[in-house]
Amino acid sequence: MANSTLLPCLLLLAIVSLAPAASGVDASTDPRPIRLNCGASSASATDSDGRSWDGDAVSKLSPPTGAGVTASYQDPSLPSPVPYMTARVFASSHTYTFLVSPGRVFLRLYFYPSGYGGLSASDALFGVTAGGVTLLRDFNASQTALALNAAYLVREFSLNVTSPTLDLTFAPSPGAPSHYAFVNGIEIVPTPDMLTVPAPSFANGGSPDPMPIRADTAFQTMHRLNVGGGAVSPADDSGPFYRAWDSDYPYLLGAAVGVTYGKDSNVTVRYPPSVPPYVAPEGVYATARSMGPDAAINLNYNLTWVLPVDAGFYYLLRFHFCEIQYPITKVNQRSFFIYINNHTAQAQMDVIVWGRGIGVPVYTDYLVVTTGSGQTDLWVALHPDISSRPEYYDAILNGIEVFKLQTYGGNSLAGDNPPIPEKQQVEDRGIGGSRRKSAVSVAVGGAAAGGLLVVLIGCLCSCAVCRRGNKTASVVACEPEAVLQQPAHGLKPGPTKSSALFTSAQDK
Ligand SMILES: *[C@@H]1O[C@H](CO)[C@@H](O)[C@H](O)[C@H]1NC(C)=O
Ligand SMILES: *[C@@H]1O[C@H](CO)[C@@H](O)[C@H](O)[C@H]1NC(C)=O
Ligand SMILES: *[C@@H]1O[C@H](CO)[C@@H](O)[C@H](O)[C@H]1NC(C)=O
Ligand SMILES: *[C@@H]1O[C@H](CO)[C@@H](O)[C@H](O)[C@H]1NC(C)=O
Ligand SMILES: *[C@@H]1O[C@H](CO)[C@@H](O)[C@H](O)[C@H]1NC(C)=O
Repeated sequence: MANSTLLPCLLLLAIVSLAPAASGVDASTDPRPIRLNCGASSASATDSDGRSWDGDAVSKLSPPTGAGVTASYQDPSLPSPVPYMTARVFASSHTYTFLVSPGRVFLRLYFYPSGYGGLSASDALFGVTAGGVTLLRDFNASQTALALNAAYLVREFSLNVTSPTLDLTFAPSPGAPSHYAFVNGIEIVPTPDMLTVPAPSFANGGSPDPMPIRADTAFQTMHRLNVGGGAVSPADDSGPFYRAWDSDYPYLLGAAVGVTYGKDSNVTVRYPPSVPPYVAPEGVYATARSMGPDAAINLNYNLTWVLPVDAGFYYLLRFHFCEIQYPITKVNQRSFFIYINNHTAQAQMDVIVWGRGIGVPVYTDYLVVTTGSGQTDLWVALHPDISSRPEYYDAILNGIEVFKLQTYGGNSLAGDNPPIPEKQQVEDRGIGGSRRKSAVSVAVGGAAAGGLLVVLIGCLCSCAVCRRGNKTASVVACEPEAVLQQPAHGLKPGPTKSSALFTSAQDK
């Protein structure tokens, strides 16, 4: 598990105001997306989300030097054969060069670790760089897939391309001649700048040193969760971005998972000018999770998500909110705390105050930094804030995204390969070999949702208060069974439980 010897100083840094600045996006920077079905010779193929992929052999700029190969086995949980069933494998470094209009893009890399021809999946070990940023280092796709209990992996990055071309290099790791690199699909989707503005202002006083988000910062999507709803498939995303939104359920801590619900039928999701619809699809805002109908119970627990990430990076956490059920239409009906890593990121969060009405999406960003190496967890928790004597003692969340920021010294986004959870190793040796969960995808995720959570002690960024000195990491159990019963990331939208209205008791 994560390196438990270091005292991770988790710095809760910044609160970014909710209004995104970039509402007037320049539509002229909207060239066509690029999708390469690597290893395929056919000119064009369509995936299950309706995206059209070109074989990479036809690329004029950089005809690939590696062999085009076909997987020997089609895992039933692959969403479609395209782009997963073919791959381009490289015995030595290869660079794809893409013509891209300057600006932000999502770069997605698709990996299906499998036997290809005579090549064993476990011999693949490689690095990937794009535009000078290391995206993956010594990437072991089969270990990562095993750790995540997934058949295939999608890695999503947000890059600001500043030159007319984007170089994407795959290089086998040194160390053994058997190491090779491979990739099944490469997707480049132009986007507006959704992450770097507005510039975060730092909470807790003190000036940032240095300011971690810049116009050219590269990000990796670690989690993108539709809280309280099912997965939203790329085809159902808003805008032409084809993001995948996963269910939040596997990340909830413990048995206190609150209640989920969809919007009242007479509520319309109305995007304000400060939240363009591409920020998140209606499917995210129209479902939510809250704590439950019983105020006394709510006061006694935190609704908590535990999100595995790579240690040693800054993270941007984006919370999506929208009140979607009556009777919550007025200020101070529901007010709550947002805790990140056990620190108060936001007190008196009142979605109606921010959105000025039911059905109005809002979002807000927070910045944290993790230290150490290996893996760690971000804790996100909600709890009623009763200081303003709200009508209901409850909290709500509709969606959350977690983005890793590149380092600047090493220009890197690469984390370690996640360790294979011990429980899973035992299971894999058990009944008739490994039983992979069907419909598991790991849309964008970075890290393993293991059965054990390494718990880290944080300190406030002002660093004046480094809480309690040298507690080392401790380990708690996290209801692994509950996690395992639930498909981690179905690609198809699941049913949205519409459970009891959250009308809590009114303790006034
Ligand atoms: C990309 O980075 C350049 C230089 O840092 C900056 O001027 C530009 O505004 C950025 N573009 C976007 C879309 O963020
Ligand atoms: C990749 O990980 C698997 C599982 O941990 C391991 O068996 C394999 O040797 C690794 N491959 C390389 C090239 O290190
Ligand atoms: C919408 O329906 C709810 C019950 O589902 C009701 O309480 C509310 O008054 C209705 N609102 C409007 C504006 O019709
Ligand atoms: C909720 O989390 C906060 C921050 O970690 C903590 O101070 C508080 O004691 C927790 N409350 C409950 C009821 O667990
Ligand atoms: C938050 O507090 C809980 C309860 O004290 C603890 O188990 C957990 O490790 C803490 N999480 C972080 C990220 O510090």
